Amino acid sequence: MKLLVTGGAGYIGSHVVRQLGEAGHDLVVYDNLSTGHRWAVQHGEFVLGDLADRHQLELVFARHKFDGVLHFAANIVVPESVENPLKYYSNNTRNTLNLLSVMDQFGVDKLVFSSTAAVYGMPDVVSLTEDTPLAPINPYGASKLMSERMIMDLSNASSLRHVILRYFNVAGANPDAKLGQATPEATHLIKVACECVNGVRPGMKIFGTDYETRDGTCIRDYIHVEDLAKAHVIALDYLREGGASEVLNCGYGRGFTVREVIDAVKRLSGVDFPVEESGRRAGDPAALTAENSRIKKVLGWIPDFDDLDVIVGTALKWEAEWQRRQRS
Ligand code: UFG
Repeated sequence: MKLLVTGGAGYIGSHVVRQLGEAGHDLVVYDNLSTGHRWAVQHGEFVLGDLADRHQLELVFARHKFDGVLHFAANIVVPESVENPLKYYSNNTRNTLNLLSVMDQFGVDKLVFSSTAAVYGMPDVVSLTEDTPLAPINPYGASKLMSERMIMDLSNASSLRHVILRYFNVAGANPDAKLGQATPEATHLIKVACECVNGVRPGMKIFGTDYETRDGTCIRDYIHVEDLAKAHVIALDYLREGGASEVLNCGYGRGFTVREVIDAVKRLSGVDFPVEESGRRAGDPAALTAENSRIKKVLGWIPDFDDLDVIVGTALKWEAEWQRRQRS
């Protein structure tokens, strides 16, 4: 298929671009490089562009006849969204509106969209199904939920078909360490802990130790980026074969606490680093884990890396490689 990939230079997008390229798809990657890297785009044509620039987007759609779009480009940091909500409503919600408008204008009718478990907010169930009520508690989740709604409404009103993937906590890297999370000033737990191992940070904090969880710290469902990337490749095949619009959770269905993750990083690296217990971070729900039977049934998705040690191990290997590259 001829595909447009927005945000394909970013962490998740670049892993998906590689799998799509290896599967033989013809790609155009559209990215403003605000957090992504040109070197991370290993397949297809690269276009430096911003989704706010509707004119440039129209030129790209006029030049290529796309069969479908994968839309990754977004800001994704929960605490930043609390401090700077309009950045999230602009870059996530308004830019998705731009993209949908241009897709509609050019009759492109297949979309795989990166959504998030943050749309569920502070659920009172442990395991979240796609039908769990949607009640985001931070602007990031709200910005993505508004995007989901626009996509569903357009699908109802046109020939568009979509697969909305609600990601849980994405981590790890390609095992060959050629790609990984290279986001500047990353805030994600596993990335931060790996930076401590490599001496990029002197130590880290645990945000909140008084949650109602098994050890008082937040529980998240960590999913390996290669398994998530595979879900996108299968989702496209599903749409190509005429599959109906779907919303699917992407997670393994089990969670780890912040302490368990930090312990795994220390154990696998053999490096101890200072960890300070501090207060809760704004916008953090206590526990988020995915009920994933739907994605398994609809897409036939079978994970290959469902193991915290594999996730952490590949993240550590990538971080060492990334620090080496930056020094050389
Ligand atoms: N945490 C720490 N110390 C740190 C970093 C994180 O204690 O230095 C804690 C957080 O407070 C949270 C947990 O680790 O309890 C996970 O935090 P992350 O920042 O790694 O990830 P989030 O759960 O905030 O958000 C991520 C994605 C969202 C997605 C969400 C779904 O960024 O897009 O997972 O579960 F919605």
